[in-house]
Amino acid sequence: MPRYEVAEDLDEKTKDLSRARQSLVEEIEAIMFYDERANATKDKDLKAVIIHNRDDEKEHASLLLEWLRKHDEALDRELKKNLFSK
Ligand SMILES: [Fe+2]
Repeated sequence: MPRYEVAEDLDEKTKDLSRARQSLVEEIEAIMFYDERANATKDKDLKAVIIHNRDDEKEHASLLLEWLRKHDEALDRELKKNLFSK
């Protein structure tokens, strides 16, 4: 999982944070893929399936973000400060 350092040098918390962050990146990428495919297809039924799948990825992303919030104090602070603000 580590992309920049040797795994043996990292503690388990750092490894799990990397796993969650990389998974969040992949969920966001999936949202982008599905969004473009839904936009590009001319088939109405296929578009509906792809949009459903895209929105499932948003649930996956939000679950990862919540896990990260619970395990990263600075992220928790920033999300509390910036999310749902006016
Ligand atoms: Fe997903």
